[in-house]
Amino acid sequence: MKEQPKVLIVGSINMDMIFYGPHGSGMKLNGSLVFDSVGYYCGGKGSNQAAAAARLGADVYLVSALGNDTEGKRMMDELEKNKVHLDFVSVLDDTHTGICGIYMMKDGSYVGTNVWGANDRIMPEMVEQALDSQSFDMIMMQLEMPLETVYRTYEIAAKRGIPVILDAGPAKSIPLERLRGIFMVSPNEAETEALTGITVTDEKTAFLAAQSIWQETQAQYVLLKLGGMGSYLYDGREGRIYPACKVDFIDTTGAGDTFTAALMIRLCDGEKMENAIRYATVAAGICVSRKGGISSVPEKEEVELQMKKEPA
Ligand code: ATP
Ligand code: RIB
Repeated sequence: MKEQPKVLIVGSINMDMIFYGPHGSGMKLNGSLVFDSVGYYCGGKGSNQAAAAARLGADVYLVSALGNDTEGKRMMDELEKNKVHLDFVSVLDDTHTGICGIYMMKDGSYVGTNVWGANDRIMPEMVEQALDSQSFDMIMMQLEMPLETVYRTYEIAAKRGIPVILDAGPAKSIPLERLRGIFMVSPNEAETEALTGITVTDEKTAFLAAQSIWQETQAQYVLLKLGGMGSYLYDGREGRIYPACKVDFIDTTGAGDTFTAALMIRLCDGEKMENAIRYATVAAGICVSRKGGISSVPEKEEVELQMKKEPA
């Protein structure tokens, strides 16, 4: 049997404040938007992915940064509880932990407002230190940190022959040439539009958008995350839709993070791509039925149980 996968996540830590709203875009009263309820949740793309990878069975190291403040302490506790190694997480005195305000509509759409704080100080040297300390099966990163760290992480990893997945959130139009040859680029719908200018509405537009990202990156795989539509995998020759699970969603925060982390773990386990996507789809389906970022990530056993119930 293969050993437990060891993965490195390079990315953000945020304390999320999620406002849950009525259908549509919030009820406007005297110039303010009125929502139904609010909750504080441990989130951030890097920490959601790290916790998801750990809950789904990997040995996980996180490269990140946070402030020496209440939010930072709460995030550290949560990540430790999830058995994420924090040796490469910097605690900074002169800035604050990342904060994200999320306005979650009942139709599943949301707007995020982000103050990066310490996430702006996630540096390539921290990645180098982590990679010098031990070997990793795979690396995953996102765009909620300095762009130079994104590029350098890929370059350092490529020299060492470690496959890298870029979860391309949040939505940004960035040059992709320095990521040429990366293992996988995985944006959601808004991120795909920011990268390509193409709005994905069906299989044809998914193909065109994925092809455009592939032409720029020559990635082994482009995997679009398309919310309730599911996902679309393109390998440079052909593409295919993988439908989402039918679930009563309540909060899509962290769905993409859970999806990509679950996919990575199954690939590290040696699983075939289509089976890994199926597993990731089921894990993300459980995630959207719960509130919050880390709090909504399922355990391995839950995903395995649900896999048995889902049609193939
Ligand atoms: P986040 O940035 O909050 O982590 P995301 O926008 O990157 O999320 P999505 O595209 O919304 O990610 O979703 C990722 C995956 O989660 C989808 O490919 C799908 O499998 C699952 N998913 C998302 N929304 C739904 C839904 N409404 N019903 C069922 N599954 C869903
Ligand atoms: O991917 C979801 C995450 O994006 C949220 O937890 C929020 O912190 C934003 O960074």
